[in-house]
Amino acid sequence: MSNEAIRLVAVDELGDSQVTVIEDTPHGTLAVGVSEGEPFAVSNTCRHLFASLGKGCVTEGGGLECPKHKALYDVKTGRMLRGPQGAFKPIAGPVKATLGSRRLKTYDVELRDGAIWLT
Ligand code: FES
Repeated sequence: MSNEAIRLVAVDELGDSQVTVIEDTPHGTLAVGVSEGEPFAVSNTCRHLFASLGKGCVTEGGGLECPKHKALYDVKTGRMLRGPQGAFKPIAGPVKATLGSRRLKTYDVELRDGAIWLT
């Protein structure tokens, strides 16, 4: 892999969810977005039941919420902050305890020329 930064997506293309799926990066498919003004890129697969996190949304608090059962992740550390909700809410604590240590992978990115770049 070269040391060149790779352009992932324009911030304008993120839409209201502030996150999207970017395929075919050197690290595979990533969820790429902006959280509290900072760009991020994390592995795209939810640790619960494998939903595509790039199809979720960034919450007001800056977390990345899974589109399927609303588990919440810290985009800086990849940690699961909240287990799955809805039908899974009764087991959200144990799921978080079990899967919480299996963080999302996080990747270095920067904001430049209105776009997010993998560095
Ligand atoms: S698949 Fe993500 S919370 Fe269930």
